[in-house]
Amino acid sequence: MDSALSLRLVAPDEAYLASYVAALETGWSPDTTHDVHDEQLVSIRRNARAFLADLLAQSGTIRHADGLVTPRLPNRTMWLWDGEFCGAIGLRFARGSEALPPYVQGHIGYAVVPWKQRRGYATRALKLMLPLARAEGLRRVFLTCDDANTASRKVIEANDGVLAGAWSFPPTGALDEGQLGYWIVL
Ligand SMILES: CC(C)(COP(=O)(O)OP(=O)(O)OC[C@H]1O[C@@H](n2cnc3c(N)ncnc32)[C@H](O)[C@@H]1OP(=O)(O)O)[C@@H](O)C(=O)NCCC(=O)NCCS
Repeated sequence: MDSALSLRLVAPDEAYLASYVAALETGWSPDTTHDVHDEQLVSIRRNARAFLADLLAQSGTIRHADGLVTPRLPNRTMWLWDGEFCGAIGLRFARGSEALPPYVQGHIGYAVVPWKQRRGYATRALKLMLPLARAEGLRRVFLTCDDANTASRKVIEANDGVLAGAWSFPPTGALDEGQLGYWIVL
């Protein structure tokens, strides 16, 4: 866990892009719901600045894997950095509300590149992200994961995630089969 203390969250920036591209070139995808590594490499090679601006954008639309186009929610994307790119963590939310549209899995999602896993990085990244969520006005955040995803469950539980009981409707409306929902009070 000690090496996790060297982990920082950095906003996507040209300074970190070469290391990010190296991760994409291995086939790693920052989106855990569908593989976006190829399309991101194409975008970066076409116009790196526009790619970064899009990651940081707060308006416009998002095209989902199934073709659905929705307004972009307020969001923060941060990269995990220990001197090299280690992964990504994202926050999305609706301003003034803890509700989320049904196509959003939860307020926070994250992924660590395979060669940096099991060093405590995801646990630390979520810990570092929570104050950013609080600063956006959220009082608690909802996270989901597959019940078979032991690593992600541990990450959430180490950050005081409390399993949402049957009494607690998920802010996304409903959970998919086999999904767990957790609240973290900020
Ligand atoms: C889930 C994920 C982000 C964890 O990243 P990580 O940096 O390896 O996590 P940590 O090092 O903070 O480990 C957290 C705990 O999970 C355990 N763990 C990590 N990988 C594991 C694995 N493959 N199997 C079982 N346990 C695992 C760690 O040992 C640690 O346990 P401990 O607290 O008892 O020591 C990473 O595996 C990943 O990117 N997976 C694919 C994407 C994903 O599932 N994202 C989450 C979507 S909800």
